[in-house]
Formats: sequence, structure tokens, C-alpha cells
Amino acid sequence: MTAEERIVGWLRSAAAPLSGTELARRLGCTRAAVWKHVVALRRQGYRIEARHARGYALAGAPDRLGPAELAPHLTGTWRNVHWVPEVDSTQRLARDLARAGAPEGTFVIAERQTAGRGRLGRTWHSPPGANLYCSIVLRPRLAPALVPQLTLVTGAAAAAAIAEETGLDATIKWPNDVLLNGRKVVGILTEMEAEMERVAHVIPGIGVNLNGTRASFPPELRRKATSLRAETGRRIDRAAFTGRLLASLEARYGRFVAQGFAKSVRAEWEARSALTGADVRVASPDGEVAGRVLGLAGDGALRVRRTDGREVHVIAGEVTVRGGYRAR
Ligand code: BTN
Repeated sequence: MTAEERIVGWLRSAAAPLSGTELARRLGCTRAAVWKHVVALRRQGYRIEARHARGYALAGAPDRLGPAELAPHLTGTWRNVHWVPEVDSTQRLARDLARAGAPEGTFVIAERQTAGRGRLGRTWHSPPGANLYCSIVLRPRLAPALVPQLTLVTGAAAAAAIAEETGLDATIKWPNDVLLNGRKVVGILTEMEAEMERVAHVIPGIGVNLNGTRASFPPELRRKATSLRAETGRRIDRAAFTGRLLASLEARYGRFVAQGFAKSVRAEWEARSALTGADVRVASPDGEVAGRVLGLAGDGALRVRRTDGREVHVIAGEVTVRGGYRAR
């Protein structure tokens, strides 16, 4: 943490104002240097009051997801935050950090992405300040063929965090879209680098629409996408939500690595499935499959009963729902 992030942390948790002398002592610098940090923090949007003869107090913090804002909300062991105001894609930055040896649990957060990436070569709408764009470096001891299960684990974690935050029934559209009232609120893109049978790193990238209004979506997304704010009518504390999401993912990832998908997250995922019972078409690498979704197989494949009665398991693909989602 930088000196400025440490000052914010101390002021946030202090019951009474902290004097310049005390801050200088904790940082091992002069009071003049403390003052310079306070001026810099004010420029970044922190409201720091200098109370005569008593010291500094934090009266307000900017709405951003930097280490100092996240620190009070991080409850797990993943604490290596890499925050940037702007980046092309947090996936690209996380990959570069992973290649340079970043440890498991390193997470990259940007306020804005200029080239946010979605699945199947799509772009991810990433305006500044309102949402969450993050990528996490993971290093599971996993055969590369099992990595798609990690996408399901991430989807279950995001849906659980949203349900906790909003009290709403967050569902998952296989493989990895989280929905509220049938509209997409989370997108997940999982990328990996592997050598033969060994995964070097996996990077789940998560985009969550938090505080954007429906009108702020591009016209082509308005019918299909939503945000937590649009569904609840209230502004979401982005830092608190981010802490919740990371804790949710770290807990499920730990169980997944220890027990495997079928014994850890599968039942929870199935309970949130938006597709079970729905009639769908799946465009998969092996061609199109049409039929009714039966659920999830133990390995994470989608079980579909085709119109000719045969059950097939689809490992990857894009699902279109015919006639709407089943009632839950
Ligand atoms: C999708 O639904 O198509 C996946 C969208 C994934 C978006 C997230 S935002 C954070 C991370 N960085 C990216 O460039 N993409 C992912």
C-alpha cells in the first residue's frame, strides 16, 4: 500500500481525528510530508478535514475501487489489489501480471475499460465509475479440460453475491451469464494459458452492471441487460459489493479445488439454473442442438433432451431460449 492509502485506512478506522504528528510517526516521515499527502488525497476527491488543534478526519471518500476503498471490505486471503483508473481490458493486464509471476488471488480492477472483451469476440460495454470490471489470477492444479468448470464456479459465486446484496433471485444462464428478472447483469469471460497437461494460470474476468441506469446502456442492450440499481431502485456500494463477490468466489474456488465440481458447486449451480426445463437451441462447436434442458451433468456439461428423445451433453456453446425461461 502507498503512504496515501495507509493514511486513508487509518483515518477511516480512527474513532477520533488523528494529528499530523501521529500520522508522521506512523509513516516515519515529517509533518510537512503528511500535509503533502493530504493535499494529494484531496485532489483525488477525499474530503479530509483539518480540525484545529485536533488533527485530520475523513469526511468523505470518492466512489472508486482502489485498495484504500476496498481494504475495509476484504475478508478473505486475496488481498493483492491492482487498481487502475483506465485500461484496455483487465483481462490483458491480469494476463501480463500472471506471466510476470503474480500470485494466485491477484485481482485487477479498472474504473473503465477502453476495449472490454466479451465472449465470442464481442465487446463489453465498460463506462467509467458505475460498474465493476475485474479479473482474477488463479493457478489451480487442474487438467486444462476441466477449466470450463471454473467458469461455472465463478457464475455461482457472482449469483450468490448478487442474491445476498439484493435479496433477489439471481439465476444463471448456462454457461455463465447471471440474470435478474431474465436480463443479464453479469458477464464472465474465462481465459487460460497452459502447457500440455498443466495449467499455468486461469483468469476469470467478471463484469457486473452495478449502478448504471437502463437508459445508460447502448440501445441494442436495453432490452437484454440490466443493473443491480435498475432492479433494486437503490445505489449499490461498489466497494462493499466487490468485497462480497471476492469472498464468495474465494470460498467456492477453495471447495472446487479440494473436492471437484460435482461435489462442491454443482448443486448450488443447478438450484440457480435459469434454463432447466426450458426449450432451447444451442449453437455448439459440434453443430446445433435443439431440445429441453434437463440440468447439469457432473462435469458441467448441459444436459439436453433432444426432440427425438435422445439425451445429449453439450460442453460448450451459445444458448437461445425458445418461449422464455421456466417459472421459478
Ligand atoms: C460475456 O458475457 O461476454 C463476458 C463479459 C466479460 C466482461 C469482463 S469485464 C472484466 C473483464 N475484462 C474484460 O475485458 N472482460 C471481462
